[in-house]
Amino acid sequence: MEVFTTIQHLRSFLDHQIELRKTIGLVPTMGALHEGHITLIEASNAENDITVCSIFVNPTQFNNPEDLLKYPRTLEQDLEILGKTGCSAVFAPSVEEMYPEKTVVKFDFGSLETVMEGASRPGHFNGVGIVVSKLFNIVNPHRAYFGQKDLQQVAVITRMVKDLSFSLQLVICPTVREDDGLAMSSRNRRLDAKERSVAPHINRILQSAKNELLAGESVENVVQTAKNEFDAIKEFTLDYFEIVDLLSLQPIQKVGPAGINAICVAAFLGPVRLIDNVVF
Ligand code: PAF
Repeated sequence: MEVFTTIQHLRSFLDHQIELRKTIGLVPTMGALHEGHITLIEASNAENDITVCSIFVNPTQFNNPEDLLKYPRTLEQDLEILGKTGCSAVFAPSVEEMYPEKTVVKFDFGSLETVMEGASRPGHFNGVGIVVSKLFNIVNPHRAYFGQKDLQQVAVITRMVKDLSFSLQLVICPTVREDDGLAMSSRNRRLDAKERSVAPHINRILQSAKNELLAGESVENVVQTAKNEFDAIKEFTLDYFEIVDLLSLQPIQKVGPAGINAICVAAFLGPVRLIDNVVF
């Protein structure tokens, strides 16, 4: 496995692979790798000759300086993990390499970003759009892999690929969960023991909301019940609990046909903000 910190070195490696007619899969990450990332790498390995994993804690997508500062950075461990997965190349650039100058281009994802994560974290999806489009241009992959856990990110990137005619296939992989149902996230390692013990309630409340909706309960009642459940667990501060249309991400009043509904949640446990969702 080769590790690159500059665009130029990564490009000359990839140019050579293209000459050899190899296909390239890209797994963009911010490091602090867990099982969820590994499944993305494995999916890429299965479908491409070369897998490039990028590790870059992208400052432009953090609207909260403390969150950026505290974001786990575990490059050495990450490289050890990646070495065992069959990943071909790691791209771990510095901030200066990615942003030699402050970018002036701005992404506006319209109604896709006025809700949920976009509403709670102003500028977040502009930062995601900038860094992901840079990575797409640098790596020029045949396929790029993202996790379903970041449902709104998936919607925004899908739209960006369409609008800007990026010539690649997006592959979306299911959320990977701990045995107790907690969605895997790099932020989980910031939870203290008590917070970690209540964190699985996020998935439990999502699942019971889904079951109530499928049993015919109204969206309004289900949202209220879920909010009450979060309120009853004092460690949680709920940011949002939304039942939305999977494509538009807009709140729905009534559940639609199977597969187009999503329940999305963001909640704080102490300073740590966790997100999760279920599609049904
Ligand atoms: O999902 C993430 O970890 C990040 O948002 C991404 C896609 C790597 C861009 O920084």
